Amino acid sequence: MFNNFQRLLTVILLSGFTAGVPLASTTTGTGTATGTSTAAEPSATVPFASTDPNPVLWNETSDPALVKPERNQLGATIQGPDNLPIDLQNPDLLAPPTTDHGFVGNAKWPFSFSKQRLQTGGWARQQNEVVLPLATNLACTNMRLEAGAIRELHWHKNAEWAYVLKGSTQISAVDNEGRNYISTVGPGDLWYFPPGIPHSLQATADDPEGSEFILVFDSGAFNDDGTFLLTDWLSHVPMEVILKNFRAKNPAAWSHIPAQQLYIFPSEPPADNQPDPVSPQGTVPLPYSFNFSSVEPTQYSGGTAKIADSTTFNISVAIAVAEVTVEPGALRELHWHPTEDEWTFFISGNARVTIFAAQSVASTFDYQGGDIAYVPASMGHYVENIGNTTLTYLEVFNTDRFADVSLSQWLALTPPSVVQAHLNLDDETLAELKQFATKATVVGPVN
Ligand SMILES: *[C@@H]1O[C@H](CO)[C@@H](O)[C@H](O)[C@H]1NC(C)=O
Ligand SMILES: *[C@@H]1O[C@H](CO)[C@@H](O)[C@H](O)[C@H]1NC(C)=O
Ligand SMILES: *[C@@H]1O[C@H](CO)[C@@H](O)[C@H](O)[C@H]1NC(C)=O
Ligand SMILES: *[C@@H]1O[C@H](CO)[C@@H](O)[C@H](O)[C@H]1NC(C)=O
Repeated sequence: MFNNFQRLLTVILLSGFTAGVPLASTTTGTGTATGTSTAAEPSATVPFASTDPNPVLWNETSDPALVKPERNQLGATIQGPDNLPIDLQNPDLLAPPTTDHGFVGNAKWPFSFSKQRLQTGGWARQQNEVVLPLATNLACTNMRLEAGAIRELHWHKNAEWAYVLKGSTQISAVDNEGRNYISTVGPGDLWYFPPGIPHSLQATADDPEGSEFILVFDSGAFNDDGTFLLTDWLSHVPMEVILKNFRAKNPAAWSHIPAQQLYIFPSEPPADNQPDPVSPQGTVPLPYSFNFSSVEPTQYSGGTAKIADSTTFNISVAIAVAEVTVEPGALRELHWHPTEDEWTFFISGNARVTIFAAQSVASTFDYQGGDIAYVPASMGHYVENIGNTTLTYLEVFNTDRFADVSLSQWLALTPPSVVQAHLNLDDETLAELKQFATKATVVGPVN
């Protein structure tokens, strides 16, 4: 088998011995060397890309003997200590495809690496730029509330967007004009609180286990331990000011407020028949929750996708999402997001992602449910399902509108002669590109 160096050498030697003859037998004649000139074809000025396959070399069910930093003739076994369970999950870090070059920076954060904040009634764990320096524009908190448990009344200067993973959560908020919003949000549904708007979250007993959700914030610097909490504030206000503020007739009634923050704490689930407070100012004009689970996804040849952004979930001007499914063997096509970083959350399945950062730099990572990926704006990437179950994940952006650019669509809608001049495709293959004039989004295997 040729390694890259041998291939390159062969190409160089061949081009020397056949001076002026194009390396590829192309079907368009323009500019074909005649043999009277030694100038190479534009397409032959560099060697062709390797056609060697570069598959994932193992998975978590593989024989551990396969797990070694070796690919083709490159690398050697590890003789020192080694963390096998982590290597089993990251075959493309230990034995990268030969198409990788340089390093884009770490683009993977498994929530299992996050420090848990354990509370009576639930927990929270977060990912922000402190642990994943690439993630400068978005941060996330994964939160679990037992039935009835409350994430205490609080606010923060960033927008908060949520995707419910399990159970249902009652949300409540009051805006700066005194308009309120109270709703119960279920699995696959979303909520959104604009910056600075005070809110609370409480797991209902609809699911006896309570609820779990992921919260995304429109800044990589967000810290969920740094939010403004009702109890934290009041415990730092002189009591006579509190009594004056609330025009307290019975000061003793204010003698049991907590001396420190609660953050997450247990409580009784909201009663079914409890009437919601009615604001004289009415409810917020744009709902703070969105029934995303009832949005029909668009079917593609290899999976599905559906989008929620400010065009449908109108209040959500700082966060846009695409929920994507990719069937085994299928691919979320080669694409990029023109101006926005992508914060990705894997819900289930196994994915391989290569991020292309220009200047020949490309790095491949492997992900599974509970992992986060981060792809900076404009960097080309794909998401391949390398497992045997449906891959489901979220693409989340700090923006009001979802946007992506498809490589296939770009080539399909560019003059074919221009595409041909770059890629040396034959006419038939060139013609087949036309199928991508409509975005393919998630492409299934050919057969
Ligand atoms: C895991 O790798 C083994 C080979 O080591 C392969 O037979 C199997 O199909 C792979 N499973 C998946 C889900 O890719
Ligand atoms: C969401 O939509 C589904 C189906 O249309 C409906 O059953 C459910 O009650 C809705 N949920 C909310 C919170 O509006
Ligand atoms: C959301 O905005 C769209 C236009 O972008 C409009 O058609 C729709 O009525 C709005 N929905 C709400 C609840 O205001
Ligand atoms: C699918 O993959 C899982 C984990 O890799 C493995 O346990 C299971 O046997 C595989 N199933 C099939 C049908 O290949």
